[in-house]
Amino acid sequence: MNEAKKTIPPFTRTLFVFLLNVIAHPNASPAPVVIWHGMGDCCCNPFSMGHIKKLIEENIQGIYVLSLEIGNSIVEDTINGFLMNVNDQVKMVCETLANDTKFQQGYNAIGFSQGGQFMRAVAQRCPKPPMLNLVSVGGQHQGVYGFPGCVGKQNIVCNMARRMMTIIAYTNFIQNHIVQAQYWHDPLNETVYRRANVFLADINQENEKNPSYKANMLKLKNFVMVKFLRDSMVEPMESEWFGFYKAGQAKDIHTLFETPMYTEDWLGLKEMNNTGRLHFLSLDTDHLKFSESWFISNIIDQFLM
Ligand SMILES: *[C@@H]1O[C@H](CO)[C@@H](O)[C@H](O)[C@H]1NC(C)=O
Ligand SMILES: *[C@@H]1O[C@H](CO)[C@@H](O)[C@H](O)[C@H]1NC(C)=O
Ligand SMILES: *[C@@H]1O[C@H](CO)[C@@H](O)[C@H](O)[C@H]1NC(C)=O
Repeated sequence: MNEAKKTIPPFTRTLFVFLLNVIAHPNASPAPVVIWHGMGDCCCNPFSMGHIKKLIEENIQGIYVLSLEIGNSIVEDTINGFLMNVNDQVKMVCETLANDTKFQQGYNAIGFSQGGQFMRAVAQRCPKPPMLNLVSVGGQHQGVYGFPGCVGKQNIVCNMARRMMTIIAYTNFIQNHIVQAQYWHDPLNETVYRRANVFLADINQENEKNPSYKANMLKLKNFVMVKFLRDSMVEPMESEWFGFYKAGQAKDIHTLFETPMYTEDWLGLKEMNNTGRLHFLSLDTDHLKFSESWFISNIIDQFLM
């Protein structure tokens, strides 16, 4: 028996295993996955995005995972998470995906923290190649009005800091160079936010409505938003589910369902919810803190298989 086994040429054996796999899984090749990292992070840190990439690869046989690098090196990638026009970054990512034949049949996308709203911009602006499922992990879909460490605190220093941030955030120069200013959302004066913000106000259809943004969102199979209930980085944390401060103050919050964005369905979110394609997940932890087993059973098994 052993003799016989040894005489099968390696190529034939490989072909045989391959054919068996094709028979067992007729649509064998799994949709590739694209990951966009958060602020202060980069594509390839073995403890964050590198780990996520490996986790997906270990759980889905033969999958191709691209962790986006914005720039030509890890240092550039990290710096560009702070200092770059987000619209240019989104354009660059759209080109990267369009240039790579592996994505032509469609791909799944996961954005972590600010990568969540940036990936949504890719879905809205670049329908080719098609994004299948969009997962936002701790993304700030209505922006932020606050600083890490000030979350939930209504004290003088924190309130002063955000008022001062507004004064600089909406200047032209800062809007075009500082990433976080491009999703700074001051609820005390929505008019100024709508007029001056170069990124978030556009993808959220705050000014003129771009019908293709809605049409493209509706091409998604699912849009999944993960919110961290003990988030100490994102203020208000409700932004992770599209909630935000009601206009004119910075205390009371409304949910997505109470906003005209939803009731008038500027982005297709109402239609998605009504067809069971909008998913709200939560974790009782701090920003981006989740276990491997949570990620496997709630994200990989549900949306990437
Ligand atoms: C995509 O391909 C075009 C044409 O070959 C090239 O000019 C461009 O630099 C590429 N973009 C990226 C981001 O790879
Ligand atoms: C918002 O700011 C604009 C421009 O500075 C100003 O004209 C308007 O009165 C402000 N609105 C409120 C509600 O403060
Ligand atoms: C959104 O969908 C969920 C689940 O199908 C449903 O329970 C909920 O009522 C919907 N929300 C609104 C505002 O329609």
